[in-house]
Amino acid sequence: MSELRRFYIRTYGCQMNAHDSEKVANLLYHEGWVAARDSDGADLLVINTCSIRDKAEHQLYSDLGLLRKWKAARPGRVLGVAGCVAQQAGDAIQRRFGHVDFVFGTHNLRLVPSMLAAALKGNPSLEVGESASLERFDLPERHPDYRGASPGRGYLTVMEGCDMFCSFCVVPGTRGREISRPADGIIAEAQSHAARGVRELTLLGQTVNAYGRHDRRRGQAGTVSFGALLRRLAEIPGIERLRYTSPHPLFFDDDLVAAHADLDVLCPHVHLPLQSGSNPILERMRRRYSVDDYRAKVAALRAARPDLVLTTDLIVGFPGETDEDFQGTLDLVAELGFVDAYSFKYSPRPGTTAASMSGAVPGDVAQARLEELQELQRGLTLAAHRRRVGASTEVLVTGHSRHGGSQLSGRDPYHRVVNFSAASGAVEPGELISVRIVEATPHSLIAEVADTETAGRMRRSLKSESGMADDEGRSTRFQAGAVRRPSGASPHGD
Ligand code: SAH
Ligand code: SF4
Ligand code: F3S
Repeated sequence: MSELRRFYIRTYGCQMNAHDSEKVANLLYHEGWVAARDSDGADLLVINTCSIRDKAEHQLYSDLGLLRKWKAARPGRVLGVAGCVAQQAGDAIQRRFGHVDFVFGTHNLRLVPSMLAAALKGNPSLEVGESASLERFDLPERHPDYRGASPGRGYLTVMEGCDMFCSFCVVPGTRGREISRPADGIIAEAQSHAARGVRELTLLGQTVNAYGRHDRRRGQAGTVSFGALLRRLAEIPGIERLRYTSPHPLFFDDDLVAAHADLDVLCPHVHLPLQSGSNPILERMRRRYSVDDYRAKVAALRAARPDLVLTTDLIVGFPGETDEDFQGTLDLVAELGFVDAYSFKYSPRPGTTAASMSGAVPGDVAQARLEELQELQRGLTLAAHRRRVGASTEVLVTGHSRHGGSQLSGRDPYHRVVNFSAASGAVEPGELISVRIVEATPHSLIAEVADTETAGRMRRSLKSESGMADDEGRSTRFQAGAVRRPSGASPHGD
């Protein structure tokens, strides 16, 4: 009998990439492979790469250099490279690193089994062709043995690609043209997620709320507006939380804003990349909104959902950014009160228009701006966290906290990390639990289980045949009447 063949996938980059890795893992399960704990235990290693900043790309080249040893350590080992760098670099990777067996781009996940079969026979391959068809979404159902990393949570791709061409960004090059999946396929996939116990669904797309826009313009059937899609998904029994990422400010129409007012399951958190608080810089970035446009979107969202938490992405040191432009960013960040922000130093990327713009900002100036911005944000985050001390919240448990021990960790509806302790075995990853916030730190909230009995009760209900959750432990939802009980199919699908 042959031994089980094991794979490991090392993933860099955004949630889209993380989900692509899940899709590849699922394909490999269908081929009879199983997950290894780490690369040491693996016969196949796939590196799923990110190219958003040069640091991310260099990471790949340093990884690949080190992996010569990994490959040589055991005969028959296979090394694959995927993702955004693969899409951009194509055959250059294998020319430079002869020990790489196969390279596939962002449109070619479904070809992994055939590439792997060729590699096992000693034949290298490269698949980075772009495809404008829906073929790439044609992937098998979840294999029963494939568990994934986060019980209770699931990603669902609704669209791919980006046609926005912001002047600094490689994504339109690495992910290709926008394409949206028909709504019926999305709903069916969400239903199968719910049937196997997923309670929190995150819809994915590079500009997720642009969903279906080209189809509507062309009069093509199959997709609906993003707001309408959310409304259909919110009806699915068992789905208790809906999120989406990354939206672009341009595509927040009235319909989507209204969905935030109407849908209890739509989480009160929006990650809304701003990039800069200066109009001239936004224009050079080709973001297609002004500071006032952005303010207006935020105001509309907050009117629809007053407790909405906003987080954002920011870039400092974009070509031509003056002290005054940067001050505009600081002022707007303070004014809008983001609860968190990912901020980056501008990194020139090949094939982007900003890469050839004049007015480069010296590295030390960009670094100082980054630190000042991050300092401001740390204060805002801590203040927002402190305002929540004493309140109750509901946590979807993701696993053990980084601090170890009996500390568990999860996310509340606002997407904040909440750490709490619970008796061993009382709460498992994938369960929802009510907690009371007792302390704030700049990175997370610390909480106590609101009622120790709750954990046990909720757990029993999760495992019950009917899947009807006991909502007593969840009576502290933020909106009056917002409690939504899972009904219908057993959350475990069996
Ligand atoms: N589609 C999303 C962003 C995806 S990229 C959107 O439009 O909002 C994630 C973040 O990386 C961006 O929001 C931006 O802040 C940052 N980023 C992208 N290209 C960058 C570059 N060349 N240098 C520095 N940061 C960059
Ligand atoms: Fe990049 Fe802009 Fe597209 Fe976002 S919208 S992925 S920043 S080009
Ligand atoms: Fe990186 Fe590609 Fe995502 S460049 S951020 S992995 S879309």
